[in-house]
Amino acid sequence: MRWTEAQAKTIETRDKNILVSAAAGSGKTTVLIERIKRLVLEDRVDIDRFLITTFTNAAAAEMKEKMEKAIHSEMEQEQDPKTIAFLQRQLQLLPQASISTFHTFALGVMRDFFYLTDLQPGFIIGDETQLQIMRRIRRMRCSSGASRKTEMPFGVSCENTAVTEAMRN
Ligand SMILES: Nc1ncnc2c1ncn2[C@@H]1O[C@H](COP(=O)(O)OP(=O)(O)OP(=O)(O)O)[C@@H](O)[C@H]1O
Ligand SMILES: [Mg+2]
Repeated sequence: MRWTEAQAKTIETRDKNILVSAAAGSGKTTVLIERIKRLVLEDRVDIDRFLITTFTNAAAAEMKEKMEKAIHSEMEQEQDPKTIAFLQRQLQLLPQASISTFHTFALGVMRDFFYLTDLQPGFIIGDETQLQIMRRIRRMRCSSGASRKTEMPFGVSCENTAVTEAMRN
């Protein structure tokens, strides 16, 4: 691909924070993928050292797929055993690499550090229907003079404020 001057600068700049703002369809995603590809393939940064977040699961999957293709195509042309070993390692690391939506990433942080919150390790993300049911149970159980420690499904209790805060309506 023939990169525009601005695209090339975005792809090649190192050791600086970069904020890219450009029109819809102008090549932001393409440039971001190329930048990551070069950081891995040329600068030899392991793929699991990146935090790459997207808005949609589809975009995250596309990014992983493009990285996998790029690594494979590099391996086909490569002769040097050390470089081949590096590329093979990238393929192994790729499934666990942090390439996900913002939400999936945030959920992972909460699961890893649940013990710093008053969440239980097995907490789940409720959909709107589950939340409605929980709100109803909470209203019934917590307002009727029940013990503040009354247990509810998913480890929620009347006194677990961080959790129940999210259920207030
Ligand atoms: N320099 C270029 N030369 C030719 N095609 C390009 C160039 N840059 C980007 N494209 C093409 O333009 C299309 C849109 O690119 P891309 O999806 O990366 O844009 P985007 O800014 O991320 O779009 P959106 O705002 O919808 O997320 C793609 O098909 C891409 O291959
Ligand atoms: Mg895009």
